[in-house]
Amino acid sequence: MRIPIAATSLLCGLTIVFAQDTSLAAVETAFNNANIPKDLQIQLKPLVLLEVIWPQPSGRSITTRAGQSFPLNDTAGPPQFAVRGALSQDTHKFVLAAVDPDAPYPQDPNVAQVRHILQGDLVLGPALGSQTYKLVNETPALTDWIQPEPPADSPPHRYIFLLYQQPKGFDSQTFVAPNDSIPAREYFNISQFAEEVGMGDPIGGSFVLVSP
Ligand SMILES: *[C@@H]1O[C@H](CO)[C@@H](O)[C@H](O)[C@H]1NC(C)=O
Ligand SMILES: *[C@@H]1O[C@H](CO)[C@@H](O)[C@H](O)[C@H]1NC(C)=O
Ligand SMILES: *[C@@H]1O[C@H](CO)[C@@H](O)[C@H](O)[C@H]1NC(C)=O
Repeated sequence: MRIPIAATSLLCGLTIVFAQDTSLAAVETAFNNANIPKDLQIQLKPLVLLEVIWPQPSGRSITTRAGQSFPLNDTAGPPQFAVRGALSQDTHKFVLAAVDPDAPYPQDPNVAQVRHILQGDLVLGPALGSQTYKLVNETPALTDWIQPEPPADSPPHRYIFLLYQQPKGFDSQTFVAPNDSIPAREYFNISQFAEEVGMGDPIGGSFVLVSP
């Protein structure tokens, strides 16, 4: 797998930068504990940290950590994203997907996955801190953000964000149409889509648990 980073410098960087609970290992553990690799049929061995940044009406954004419970009222978004790791400012592009595998109910997810975002052509933007770069999009999203809307009688849903390296030819993919209606976002399968467009395994991820 071709990765947009120097693996050795990444590992050095991680020891220094991610010594706290925002570590790659903690992300992987959170995904495993929430059964996400199994339910999405993905392999997540994160190489970078994906930060999900939620703008708030108060003006102060909230950055969530993998597995955090997050109030529905704070999820209006659209979320912004940053990536942390020893990345080089180069021409690599990323694809970001967000899915709900628990719709309408985790115990009977019969319309899952619901696609909440599908955005290609993300590139490293301004540095937000040490080895942390905002992701900025160079083209409109294929699927724009829709806010979580778990039914009133549902347990929390997992809203899962996955970052992939963008494969060549992504912009001419025809598996997902731009600006899909809400029904057309249902029955999505992120691992099937990743196979179809050849984007491999995710290189980073995060998720929140949102109750009605
Ligand atoms: C969310 O916002 C609505 C409308 O402002 C309010 O009625 C409700 O109490 C809020 N819920 C929570 C959990 O803060
Ligand atoms: C989706 O629709 C919006 C609003 O009409 C438009 O600005 C955007 O370019 C469209 N996205 C794509 C990928 O066509
Ligand atoms: C999703 O796609 C993967 C990879 O193609 C496949 O193995 C799996 O069966 C699909 N899941 C569902 C629920 O169709």
